[in-house]
Amino acid sequence: MAKMEVKTSLLDNMIGVGDMVLLEPLNEETFINNLKKRFDHNEIYTYIGSVVISVNPYRSLPIYSPEKVEDYRNRNFYELSPHIFALSDEAYRSLRDQDKDQCILITGESGAGKTEASKLVMSYVAAVCGKGAEVNQVKEQLLQSNPVLEAFGNAKTVRNDNSSRFGKYMDIEFDFKGDPLGGVISNYLLEKSRVVKQPRGERNFHVFYQLLSGASEELLNKLKLERDFSRYNYLSLDSARVNGIDDAANFRTVRNAMQIVGFMDHEAESVLEVVAAVLKLGNIEFKPESRVNGLDESKIKDKNELKEICELTGIDQSVLERAFSFRTVEAKQEKVSTTLNVAQAYYARDALAKNLYSRLFSWLVNRINESIKAQTKVRKKVMGVLDIYGFEIFEDNSFEQFIINYCNEKLQQIFIELTLKEEQEEYIREDIEWTHIEYFNNAIICDLIENNTNGILAMLDEECLRPGTVTDETFLEKLNQVCATHQHFESRMSKCSRFLNDTSLPHSCFRIQHYAGKVLYQVEGFVDKNNDLLYRDLSQAMWKASHTLIKSLFPEGNPAKINLKRPPTAGSQFKASVATLMKNLQTKNPNYIRCIKPNDKKAAHIFNESLVCHQIRYLGLLENVRVRRAGYAFRQAYEPCLERYKMLCKQTWPHWKGPARSGVEVLFNELEIPVEEYSFGRSKIFIRNPRTLFKLEDLRKQRLEDLATLIQKIYRGWKCRTHFLLMKKSQIVIAAWFRRFAQQKKYQQTKSSALVIQSYIRGWKARKILRELKHQKRCKEAATTIAAYWHGTQARRELKRLKEEARRKHAVAVIWAYWLGLKVRREYRKFFRANAGKKIYEFTLQRIIQKYFLEMKNKMPSLSPIDKNWPSRPYLFLDSTHKELKRIFHLWRCKKYRDQFTDQQKLIYEEKLEASELFKDKKALYPSSVGQPFQGAYLEINKNPKYKKLKDAIEEKIIIAEVVNKINRANGKSTSRIFLLTNNNLLLADQKSGQIKSEVPLVDVTKVSMSSQNDGFFAVHLKEGSEAASKGDFLFSSDHLIEMATKLYRTTLSQTKQKLSIEISDEFLVQFRQDKVCVKFIQGNQKNGSVPTCKRKNNRLLEVAVP
Ligand SMILES: Nc1ncnc2c1ncn2[C@@H]1O[C@H](COP(=O)(O)OP(=O)(O)O)[C@@H](O)[C@H]1O
Ligand SMILES: [Mg+2]
Repeated sequence: MAKMEVKTSLLDNMIGVGDMVLLEPLNEETFINNLKKRFDHNEIYTYIGSVVISVNPYRSLPIYSPEKVEDYRNRNFYELSPHIFALSDEAYRSLRDQDKDQCILITGESGAGKTEASKLVMSYVAAVCGKGAEVNQVKEQLLQSNPVLEAFGNAKTVRNDNSSRFGKYMDIEFDFKGDPLGGVISNYLLEKSRVVKQPRGERNFHVFYQLLSGASEELLNKLKLERDFSRYNYLSLDSARVNGIDDAANFRTVRNAMQIVGFMDHEAESVLEVVAAVLKLGNIEFKPESRVNGLDESKIKDKNELKEICELTGIDQSVLERAFSFRTVEAKQEKVSTTLNVAQAYYARDALAKNLYSRLFSWLVNRINESIKAQTKVRKKVMGVLDIYGFEIFEDNSFEQFIINYCNEKLQQIFIELTLKEEQEEYIREDIEWTHIEYFNNAIICDLIENNTNGILAMLDEECLRPGTVTDETFLEKLNQVCATHQHFESRMSKCSRFLNDTSLPHSCFRIQHYAGKVLYQVEGFVDKNNDLLYRDLSQAMWKASHTLIKSLFPEGNPAKINLKRPPTAGSQFKASVATLMKNLQTKNPNYIRCIKPNDKKAAHIFNESLVCHQIRYLGLLENVRVRRAGYAFRQAYEPCLERYKMLCKQTWPHWKGPARSGVEVLFNELEIPVEEYSFGRSKIFIRNPRTLFKLEDLRKQRLEDLATLIQKIYRGWKCRTHFLLMKKSQIVIAAWFRRFAQQKKYQQTKSSALVIQSYIRGWKARKILRELKHQKRCKEAATTIAAYWHGTQARRELKRLKEEARRKHAVAVIWAYWLGLKVRREYRKFFRANAGKKIYEFTLQRIIQKYFLEMKNKMPSLSPIDKNWPSRPYLFLDSTHKELKRIFHLWRCKKYRDQFTDQQKLIYEEKLEASELFKDKKALYPSSVGQPFQGAYLEINKNPKYKKLKDAIEEKIIIAEVVNKINRANGKSTSRIFLLTNNNLLLADQKSGQIKSEVPLVDVTKVSMSSQNDGFFAVHLKEGSEAASKGDFLFSSDHLIEMATKLYRTTLSQTKQKLSIEISDEFLVQFRQDKVCVKFIQGNQKNGSVPTCKRKNNRLLEVAVP
């Protein structure tokens, strides 16, 4: 269905301004007010040019439905109100159609909605990209990787119930059509300290709680766990249950997601075993034990937990126990073992737990990557989605915050670089003069942190590697020396007098002025966390585990691969991975989503202005707007611009014929917009000030109202006029009709009056004539009547006289006749009674018989002997006569019929008779043979030159020459043979060559056997011991079995004077060489159609299947 093209714009029904670039005047207050106004109206998205600001609504809004997806699909960015879908669509289309790799950078504080935004982007792309079984599986795997990573990498914090505790960058790969092929996930710095300790009001990673609440009893037993959270030291209890999070249900979701992503059952189980081992590690406790040398040594309090861990992981208990009590240091081929005190033992335990968990997490990411990686080698287009922890300022900021803020610093930098670059590129593309823009470049802060020679990270590494006592304090001292003069570094210990009196800066801290604000870092723990030390004894113990997953997590524990070099520090690892990430992002077209948290309470409808203000400041959003509108605030392609404002000028309204650009020129001239306010690019008009745009908008609104009035006016006029015309027309019609009606009525009246008068006159005239005529007629009638009466009287008198005379004559005749009758009866009475009855009877009988014969003559049936018709008998007493007559007639007509036969025909009928005697009612095949004439020589040997030799070899008369199937005695297969019967012999010859194969004198034929069924099989039994019988009896099948058997019978009888025995049975024996074989006829299957099949079953049995 073609969608109706409705031209809309971001500018329609705007709440506040949809694009901050249009904000007038632009300052922090108006910026926040605009955000708030939009937020209050459920508009959580606002643009700054192509950047999307997203304010977390903390409640579900109905703006992510499939219908919304359809709305935003294939629409221009500024066509609809701001939405994350518009950005996703723009990115996806530019990836698919313009072949530009994309990255979507999502930044913001913890809880600002980054992860949700990344999921929305992914689900939008999944919804609009290709479909199909394979593509859907890829999509499903990509989407399902989220729950798995969230279970292991997310936790409840005070800021967010589902806070990602790791940075995530995911490349989704597409083919040239835009169908997803797979993906690659990179993870950054999991906050592993959470495994062993959580701040107040926060939880450990979700997976621990999910496992304990969601696992079945059976699984818990297997993992040696108990359901009760309070049993585990590593789980904080005060907020173990979180409102709105169903851990048990999530556990099932995660298991299911693992399955979809492609984890094998045993892999998923191994993962849970590691999780269980980490939980149980926390329960190992140590107690001090004094030794002889006065040193304190730690001992494990209760070895039960240790034992279970060892059982779970397949580690030798003594090895692990030793690793918790000793530390071996290797230096210059020397091994020195020192005992651990209680504090050290706890440190070792926690380090192990943290390492185990964070390595498991990295393993999971790799494992997921293995599943979701693109299977093909074709060139891929890439869309990267970066969901990384935002800028963090806590009361106590430590190494982690330092690292995280460093990462954000870098992101801000490429944001500035790329936005400026994009802006500049657009100006060049559109051929507009570039004006220099002042902005704060945070490269200097990045340099403070990452500089290889005197950056803070480099200092920290140097300190960690330095021999001698290294503490956090020595590190701070070093910083104070090196960075003291840096503009963005503040420390009280530095000799720079600026901060000597700053009491807000404690001695054990340093402060960095980040682009987003000042952050005070506690130096405590920096060295330790950077070192990220795991005692070698522990990694070796882990490597010895029989649990394959755990073993693979600690490759450095392999004694064969001992590496005395220190592993890279956490700081330098992170720096390297951030550098790779930045390099990667720079090659892609960036799309920004900047998330803002409206309040600290995770509550809907609350907009805390100071909190938002802070975020706007450190995200540099105002700066972003300034950059964006430094030159020209608003730009629009010529066509939509002309389309939107063409009603403001007579020349362009309603249609502009020329190119859109000149239309816009005419329009702007007409409106007298100052020339410095706009500039013409190649494809877009650039408007310097939002004021101008709003003026245009106001004019448009005004003009639209005028236009509406005009349209209304014209419509009303048109409506009234058509109404008037209609009324006028109707009035004429009605008047015409009425006049006609009146005239008609008047005419009718006049006409009828005239008629009345006319008729009266005519009537009067007619009556006068009538009267005269009646008088004349009456005179005539009177005379006639008188004459008639007179004639009548005369006639009646004469009639009376004649009647009297006739009556008298009749009476005389009757009396005479009666008298004569009486006389005759008196004379003959004496003869009549004695023999009249008999005479009449005989006479009648004779008449009946005569009539019977005469009728029979006409009703005789035909002369055909098989005609069964005979007329019915008319009288019962003729019954015997009638039967006799029928018999005589039949005999007579049979005789007549026979008399016509020639000798040859007689012979044929004799044969048919013989066949009837032999087979009638015995063989089922018989009835079908009755109608077939017996021809004997079917094969005309004389005429076929092929058989000349055969013909010459036979001197006698041929009685039968026919092709039969000879059944092979060994396997039941059949071959064609010529079957010849002469007066004395039976011959078989090859059908092709005519060569005689066997010759049997008729005296040697003893018997013919066949079944009672409807088949043509028959056996010819030979006399035992005769020469012909050496190979055994013959088994044939023929279409003319009845004829052949009959002829064989008759010939044998006439030649040998012996009756050939014919056996009809469904089971008979034949002699094949030495074997007596039973030929058995069975009701066969219908598989072979109506052809009987023959099969040699074994030595003793040959089966014929008759259908
Ligand atoms: N677009 C949104 N619509 C509704 N709720 C949201 C949206 N974005 C975020 N939230 C809510 O805010 C919470 C925190 O979001 P999240 O994306 O996890 O934050 P971040 O990843 O930035 O720390 C989510 O759990 C959800 O309840
Ligand atoms: Mg998150």
